[in-house]
Amino acid sequence: MPPEKKKPRSSKRKKDKIFIKVENVSKSYKMGEVEVKALDEISISIKKGGIVSIVGPSGSGKTTLLNLIGALDYVDKGNIAIDGQKLSTLSEKELSYLRREIIGYVFQNFNLLEEINAEKNIEMPMILAKRPKEERKQKIEELLKAVGLYDRRDHKPDQLSGGEQQRVAIARALANDPELILADELTGNLDSDTGDKIIKLLLELSKKNKKTLIFVTHDNELAILADRQLYMNDGQILKDFSAK
Ligand SMILES: Nc1ncnc2c1ncn2[C@@H]1O[C@H](COP(=O)(O)OP(=O)(O)OP(=O)(O)O)[C@@H](O)[C@H]1O
Ligand SMILES: [Mg+2]
Repeated sequence: MPPEKKKPRSSKRKKDKIFIKVENVSKSYKMGEVEVKALDEISISIKKGGIVSIVGPSGSGKTTLLNLIGALDYVDKGNIAIDGQKLSTLSEKELSYLRREIIGYVFQNFNLLEEINAEKNIEMPMILAKRPKEERKQKIEELLKAVGLYDRRDHKPDQLSGGEQQRVAIARALANDPELILADELTGNLDSDTGDKIIKLLLELSKKNKKTLIFVTHDNELAILADRQLYMNDGQILKDFSAK
C-alpha cells in the first residue's frame, strides 16, 4: 500500500489513543478511628484530546480523583497511567516533571502569587521549567491575549476581578503547553455569567490546542459542554455519557 494511504489510519489511531488509564483505583482517608472511602474501585480511560466533565454531590470523590490523576496524591490500591506511564513507577523527579510540564492545574481559589503581577504569575511555571527568556516573553504575550488580559498584565491579583484572576490562572496553567489540563470547580467562586465565560474559554483553548481537559463542576449546563460527562456518587462513577 502506498505510504500516503496509510497516513489517515495512523493519525486516527493516534487521536483515539488512551491518554489516561485509571484501573481499579481506591483511596481512603483516615480520620482518627474512622476511615472515609473517597474512591471505591474506580476504572476509567480517557482519550488524548478528550474533554471530560465530572459532576456529583459534595463528598462524592471528584477532587480526590482529579488529585490522583494529577499526581498530587497517591492511590491506596490500583493503578493510574498517563500516556502509558504508570505513576507508581515514576521517581519524585519524574513526577515533578509531569506536574510541571505535562499537567496544567486550575483551582477554585486561583492560587495565584499575590505579590507579583499577572505577567509574572504566568511566567513562573516557565521559569521553573527553565525556558529561555525570549520564549517566555512571547508565550506570556500570546497567553495574555488569548485570555483577554493583555491590558491588565501589570495588575497584581488583588487589583483584578475574580474572573480576571481565574483567567490569569488559566493562562498560567497553559504556560508550559501541558498535554493535560485539570480544573477543579474553577467557576465555584465566580458569578454564573463569568463562570460560563471562563469554562467556555478553557474549552475553546483546550480544543484549539488539542489538549485533554478534565473539569469538575456543580453546574449541569456547563458539564454538558464536554464531549463526555462522568457522574460520581459515593466514590464511584455511576454514569458515563458521551455526547457523540
Ligand atoms: N484530606 C482529607 N482527609 C480526610 N478526608 C478527606 C480528605 N479529603 C477528602 N476527604 C473525604 O473524602 C471524600 C471525598 O472528598 P472529595 O474532596 O473528593 O469530594 P468532592 O466530590 O470533591 O466534594 P466537593 O464537591 O464538596 O468538592 C469526602 O467524604 C471527604 O470528606
Ligand atoms: Mg471537590
